[in-house]
Amino acid sequence: MAKKPVKKQEVETTGHEWDGIQEYNNPLPRWWLWTTYLTIIWGIGYIIAYPAIPLINGATPGLLGYSSRAEVAADIAEIEAQNAPLTARIIELELTEISSDELVGGEADGFAYNGGRAVFQTFCAQCHGAGANGSKGYPSLIDDDWLWGGSIEEIYTTISHGIRHETDLDTRISEMPAFGEFLSKEEIVGIVDYVGSLSSINGAVATEEHEMLFLDNCAACHADDGTGDRFAGAPNLTDAIWLYGSDSATLIDTVTYARAGVMPAWSGRLSESQIRQAAVYIHSLGGGE
Ligand code: HEC
Ligand code: HEC
Repeated sequence: MAKKPVKKQEVETTGHEWDGIQEYNNPLPRWWLWTTYLTIIWGIGYIIAYPAIPLINGATPGLLGYSSRAEVAADIAEIEAQNAPLTARIIELELTEISSDELVGGEADGFAYNGGRAVFQTFCAQCHGAGANGSKGYPSLIDDDWLWGGSIEEIYTTISHGIRHETDLDTRISEMPAFGEFLSKEEIVGIVDYVGSLSSINGAVATEEHEMLFLDNCAACHADDGTGDRFAGAPNLTDAIWLYGSDSATLIDTVTYARAGVMPAWSGRLSESQIRQAAVYIHSLGGGE
């Protein structure tokens, strides 16, 4: 590499030198310096005027008393005040009257329906799916197959008190026993064949012996003909809708270990009006009775 001759400089150096490289001592440009001073003054002014320095519980409030949280709270309070007559109306009405009420009803564009949809998307969709179509273990809420009942009152009760939600005294409760403890593997396979034959799945053929086992062990909750019982939350075993699955392995698992789906109770967590709106929304989805 050809060495360039170093030009002699008039500028002062700091006196530092590394391997022949010297550090100049140029003054900072004036405009730069003044901009820096200005930002410092601005910063101090901001700290005094607005919330700024974090403390253990929040931040220094600032002389202007501004708070983004208070602003949101005020907006929410304003909207709640606007809606107060509507929420009061929803609580006042019979559940069955809400959808046809002039003030809050009118499916798909009514206040109750829209509110219910917002509640659903916020609190329910994670389990029941954004379209309420459910998934394994989480029932679809858009069909007319109901575990616990599809009238608006029944839906309201389910939402308020949940299902097997132990801390709610009025929760819906029932427990399918784990039959692995009472029945042999062969008996369980036989019963599963019988269950399959009820809805003609898996090409299952059942014997009279298996039918007897079903009547002795299962009919108390699932009914003699297997169509289920809403009082016990026991699903219909004769249709094509399955909460956990209808292949033999899943059915054997279900009967051996039992299932006990849990749905949270919402009274106390949502307002009475919100629960009623959610019930109106679910009831309108297509399966409502
Ligand atoms: C943590 C999951 C979870 C969340 C959140 C949840 N659910 Fe459920 N829900 C369930 C499960 C599980 C069942 C079925 C319980 C069973 O097996 O009996 C259920 C059942 C239901 C049923 C009864 C269906 C029937 O066939 O009878 C309704 C109605 C319902 N949920 C509505 C809602 C609403 C409305 C919300 C929101 C406010 C909600 N759920 C939030 C898990 C959830
Ligand atoms: C004490 C009442 C009770 C008895 C007795 C009972 N079940 Fe159940 N069964 C239920 C309930 C409640 C559920 C729903 C569990 C849930 O939602 O998590 C259920 C669910 C099922 C399911 C799941 C259905 C699906 O859609 O995935 C099958 C299959 C089933 N039971 C078969 C049987 C068979 C077979 C017997 C007899 C050996 C039996 N049950 C006895 C209450 C009972």
